[in-house]
Amino acid sequence: MYNSLEEVENLVKRCTKCALCKNRTNTVFADGNESAKIMFIGEGPGADEDREGVPFVGKAGKLMNEALKGIGLKREEIYISNIVKCRPPGNRTPFKEEAMACLDYLRNQVVLVNPKIVVLLGNTALKNVLGEEYSITASRGRWIEKKGIKYMPTFHPAALLRDETKKIDFWQDLEIVKEELENID
Ligand code: URA
Repeated sequence: MYNSLEEVENLVKRCTKCALCKNRTNTVFADGNESAKIMFIGEGPGADEDREGVPFVGKAGKLMNEALKGIGLKREEIYISNIVKCRPPGNRTPFKEEAMACLDYLRNQVVLVNPKIVVLLGNTALKNVLGEEYSITASRGRWIEKKGIKYMPTFHPAALLRDETKKIDFWQDLEIVKEELENID
């Protein structure tokens, strides 16, 4: 375990553990509040994120911000990161070995931020954080509690851009999150 998020971020910046490092413009570590009660985990940077070095700044990020606003949260009140910290070519899903190579950074982020709630955005986040046996369609909208953290799996915002019908479920899931957040001191 590392002692600070800064230390982890500096390691990520120099990371060459998988082939994704070869094509990156920037590593994308995290955004938001390092002592947030709630953390969001996505899949990996897209083109906009790779350019700016900040997660969720593109189209999916705009939708994410709207969703946060909908439950009364600002970016500054959450901590947000991804399974992989470098952009997969053409925005493909990260390969298992890429996710595995990167996962130790995320584990350290979770321990150091110490959130009460973690929202898992999409299958890549869900499967890599909680296990391959889970799937968004079967698990979304229900809490999964592990080691004192409440995990809420839901759709990735990019999936909502492809299929508008998922929006209703997504909003419902976020309402559950909002209620729980209000119960936490
Ligand atoms: N999609 C993700 O999963 N993460 C980002 O940072 C941007 C888009």
